[in-house]
Amino acid sequence: MRLVRVIITGAAGFIGSNLTEQLLNEGHEVVGVDNFDDYYSGKTMFLERSSDHPRFSMVRGDILDLDLMKRTMKGADAVVHLAAQAGVRFSVKDPLKSHMVNVVGTLNVLLASLEGGVKRVVNSSSSSVYGNIGHRPVTEMDPVRPVSPYATSKLAAEIYCRQFYELYGLDTVSLRYFTVYGPRQRPDMAIRIFTERILKGLPPQIYGDGEQSRDFTFVEDVVAAIRSAMTAPDLKGAAINISGGKPITVNRLVQELQAVCGRRDLDPVYLPSQPGDVDHTWGDPTLAARLLAGRPGRASGKGSGSMWNGTGAAKSGGPS
Ligand SMILES: NC(=O)c1ccc[n+]([C@@H]2O[C@H](COP(=O)([O-])OP(=O)(O)OC[C@H]3O[C@@H](n4cnc5c(N)ncnc54)[C@H](O)[C@@H]3O)[C@@H](O)[C@H]2O)c1
Repeated sequence: MRLVRVIITGAAGFIGSNLTEQLLNEGHEVVGVDNFDDYYSGKTMFLERSSDHPRFSMVRGDILDLDLMKRTMKGADAVVHLAAQAGVRFSVKDPLKSHMVNVVGTLNVLLASLEGGVKRVVNSSSSSVYGNIGHRPVTEMDPVRPVSPYATSKLAAEIYCRQFYELYGLDTVSLRYFTVYGPRQRPDMAIRIFTERILKGLPPQIYGDGEQSRDFTFVEDVVAAIRSAMTAPDLKGAAINISGGKPITVNRLVQELQAVCGRRDLDPVYLPSQPGDVDHTWGDPTLAARLLAGRPGRASGKGSGSMWNGTGAAKSGGPS
């Protein structure tokens, strides 16, 4: 399928702005949808490189506005749905907002895509749907047991996506991203928080004992996976892990960041664990390799694990 017109909800965000640039570079027409939510600031800057591009236009609006979504999505070749109220910890404080944006918002995107004849909807899910899985790689066959309102909302959205495929024939797929890092990372995420503190000469603050782990995934690999998922055949409403496959502990992460910043002298401060956070994330990427490999935009391997030189045994903290 030759892509012509792609709608990206959440285009002004961390992953969305990276994807927008990639798709414009590849020659596609991109329509971004974003309400520039005040969860964090600086998003206008994220779109600086794209905003004047002749094949880019921006709809400043809310995915909760169904009529706007219907007008925007009509006739699109693909919708990449990234808009969300992100943040596990935020969701513990305000579960209703997470539900409204992530569940009702996704339902609107699906209804608008169905009515508008969209050929493929790529939904953004999360590793958090698995809950506490112990220290082992999870496959898509493993049970899902969300432990935060954010995770519950992501799972509900995923189920709607599968149902829209099964009930109405809308071609959907959900990608379960494992903690994404890279340029423009959200300010509520661990790598950015630790790095900013270390660069200011402040001790990194670690929630829990630091032995929790995260399977960090480089944003370029996530963008490549989305590109593949926009065109790969036979996805049939599936949910697919998008993971680096090499988790590290928070303690190890902090040591690496201290080394990179030349501040090994800053001893971490340990704080109580945060409710809603899971202990470990570790995704088995086999299904992604099978369903998404060999497609345009296939993960280059430039990012996965490279930050840690492939040395495994890892864990880390912060929201996904
Ligand atoms: N970053 C990660 O590690 C990670 C991990 C798993 C899943 N995800 C999912 O990937 C997607 C993108 O994440 P991100 O890290 O880029 O987040 P982000 O917060 O940087 O981007 C989300 C964008 O959605 C926009 N938005 C929020 N509410 C909206 C609304 N009601 N209407 C329109 N736009 C709205 C925000 O303004 C923001 O630009 C989200 O769905 C998130 O849940 C991210």
